[in-house]
Amino acid sequence: MTKSEAEILHIETEKRLAAEAAAELVEEGMTVGLGTGSTVAYLLPALARRKLEISCVATSLATFDVAREMGLRVQPFTGIDHLDIAIDGADQVDPVGWLVKGGGGAHTREKIVAGASQRYVVIVSSNKLVDTLAVPIPLELLAFGIDATRCQLGDVRLTHAPISPDGGVLAGYFGPLGDPAKLACRLSATPGVVSHGLFPPTMVSDILVGHGNQVNWRH
Ligand code: 5RP
Repeated sequence: MTKSEAEILHIETEKRLAAEAAAELVEEGMTVGLGTGSTVAYLLPALARRKLEISCVATSLATFDVAREMGLRVQPFTGIDHLDIAIDGADQVDPVGWLVKGGGGAHTREKIVAGASQRYVVIVSSNKLVDTLAVPIPLELLAFGIDATRCQLGDVRLTHAPISPDGGVLAGYFGPLGDPAKLACRLSATPGVVSHGLFPPTMVSDILVGHGNQVNWRH
C-alpha cells in the first residue's frame, strides 16, 4: 500500500468511527435529519443496522435514495415542524465551532435541517479541523439578477454544477473572509443569496471528530 492509499484509508476509518458514534445518539421514535456526503454515507448503514422505529428527512436526493434503499423511513420535509436530531458532515471546522459546508452543494437544505433540529451533530475526520476557515464559501444564488448579486458580493465564481433541487445556482465566494460572523451577516443580507455555507457555532450541538482509532467529542 502506498503512503497516500494508507492516508485515504486512515481518513475513511475516522469518518466511519465518527458516523458510527453519532448513529448511537439516535433513539427510538425520533425524527432524524440526514446530512449529505461521504461521511454521512457511513452513518446510513450504521443507523439502518439499529432497526429503530424512526422517521427521517434527507438533505439531498442522493441521501434520500440511499437511506430508503437501506430500509430507513424517509419522508419529504413537509408537515414536520421540528426534528429531534440531525447528523451531517462538514468541509471545515474551526477551533470555536464555525463550519464551512456545502462541498456537496446541499448546504441550503442542510442549513434548514440544522436549524429545525433540537440537536445538531457534526461528524468529521480529523483533516477537517482547521485553525482558520478558508475560501471558497459555497453559495446558492437566485438566477434572477445573478450578475448584479455577484457584483455586490465581490469575487464569486460559478461552480458549473447542475442547479440545486430548489432551482438555485451554485457558486463559491472567494473574497476576503476575515471574521466569519461578519461575512455570514453580509452574505445573508445580500439580495439574491439564497444561502451560504457558513454555519455558526450556535447552530452546532456536538462535533464528533474521528481521530486515529477513537472519536473525540466537542460540545
Ligand atoms: C454537502 C456537505 C457535506 O456535509 C460536506 O461537504 C462534507 O462532505 P464529506 O463528508 O464528503 O467530506 O456540506 O453539501
